[in-house]
Amino acid sequence: MEMRFDKRILCIGAGYVGGPTMAMIAAKCPQYQVTMVDVKEEKIAAWQTDNLPIYEPGLLELVKQARGRNLFFSTDILAGIREAEIIFVSVNTPTKSFGEGAGKAADLQYWEKTARSIVKASESPKIIVEKSTLPVRTAKAMERILSANPKGVRFEVLSNPEFLAEGTAVTDLENPDRVLIGSRETESGLRARRELVDIYANWVPREKILTSNVWSAELSKLAANAFLAQRISSINSISALCERTRADIAEVSRAIGMDQRIGSRFLQASVGFGGSCFKKDILNLVYICENYGLQEIAEYWQNVVKINEYQEHRFVKTMIRVMFNTVADKRIALFGFSFKKDTGDTRESAAIYVARKLLAENARVIVTDPQALPNAREELKDAGAAVEYEEDPYRAAENAHAIAVLTEWDLYRELDYRRIYASVEKPAFIFDGRNILPHQELYEIGFNVFPIGKPSLRHF
Ligand code: NAD
Ligand code: UGA
Repeated sequence: MEMRFDKRILCIGAGYVGGPTMAMIAAKCPQYQVTMVDVKEEKIAAWQTDNLPIYEPGLLELVKQARGRNLFFSTDILAGIREAEIIFVSVNTPTKSFGEGAGKAADLQYWEKTARSIVKASESPKIIVEKSTLPVRTAKAMERILSANPKGVRFEVLSNPEFLAEGTAVTDLENPDRVLIGSRETESGLRARRELVDIYANWVPREKILTSNVWSAELSKLAANAFLAQRISSINSISALCERTRADIAEVSRAIGMDQRIGSRFLQASVGFGGSCFKKDILNLVYICENYGLQEIAEYWQNVVKINEYQEHRFVKTMIRVMFNTVADKRIALFGFSFKKDTGDTRESAAIYVARKLLAENARVIVTDPQALPNAREELKDAGAAVEYEEDPYRAAENAHAIAVLTEWDLYRELDYRRIYASVEKPAFIFDGRNILPHQELYEIGFNVFPIGKPSLRHF
């Protein structure tokens, strides 16, 4: 055990949350030893190279500040547990795909395995920090598993949900709106809470470190994601009405967002929200409400997901309809495949739905994306030769019957659309699922332009 460090921190699960979070703690707190473990050997190996397993602006620089100094990576989970005083658990908690609650409930099998590993390896008291997003009252189950240890080791379970967004993880962690720490209000619970507060206080102002009971912390995370997703479904629902009435969603967003009670952020209409968490966390909330007999509340939140599916569906339906009701054998270039810009993550990306719908119509799909091609290949591998992957957007657009912008990468705003127009099939179509392109200019070049929630600009 390294005695030159004040604290030994372990994180189980070196993914999108564990990786950046631990890198930030290690960079800001050289006095702590921070170790990340994962069952995936290749991931742990990649964290030790300059080719990190995830793309996140600023992350490599952050990792390099601490790697080998006080930030370490390992696959020896049991040794890591034995040595640590504080253990963050940030394993994945996807939607259950089998058995009771399939399609809604959280699949807690990875989380439970870590709890059992903790019991197995621990020889001294530890603070266990739930970093993963979990159903409210999960800490209770964690406590039950942990307390069933024959060695009588004491554990304190805290909830410290993570609010970072991908693409901005480093700045979100460095300057969070708040850090939330839930604990039991017992003497040992409060002591553990103070220990965790002290870690964050190394760089986060005290007034931004909120404390609460464990259940409020767990539920706040699900509620925050549900509220954020709800805003997108709300604006997307209005975008559908805009298209029928010749109102313009950008103008509506601006007008309602200037009301300080509403606020201007997260009002960007789109092809639909994606990402690994919004859908799964809302479905989890729905499942919990159903379990507590709150059917009306469950239905209320379920509709946020339903509107998102409607928006994705509406987008493809428009594409097919305006392209003379057939896309069979047509080349459709998808500009962007990640679920948002500045990440290579494609989990639940609206692009998956769009690509699959087009493939089902026998279209030929060309995917381009500056970071997400490896994940896109994996996601669509069953489609075989019907999908091409092309790094260069100009080449992706060559001979295309249509271009669909699915991710708001800045580079798509800056392309030479005259050059693209010259190389595409005519009539030329652009479907802007992110409203990032200069629509009038494209129309003047010759494209037929179909934004979200705005009147289309067509030459026929
Ligand atoms: P991820 O899939 O990127 O990472 C999870 C890691 O845990 C994987 O590398 C996996 O191999 C590892 N793992 C699984 N079981 C393990 C075990 N028994 N022992 C050791 N390692 C194990 O997932 P993520 O996106 O980092 O999400 C993790 C949690 O954080 C989820 O609950 C998610 O809801 C939540 N969350 C995610 C984000 C985000 O932006 N991705 C933001 C906030 C919260
Ligand atoms: C979201 C939350 O913003 C984080 O606070 C949370 O920690 C995280 O989920 C999580 O729990 O995983 P993330 O999914 O990484 O973060 O990214 P967001 O910026 O929230 O975007 C989610 C989706 O909504 C993206 O597809 C994005 O393009 C879309 N979106 C976002 C819109 O369509 N319109 C908007 O106005 C904003």
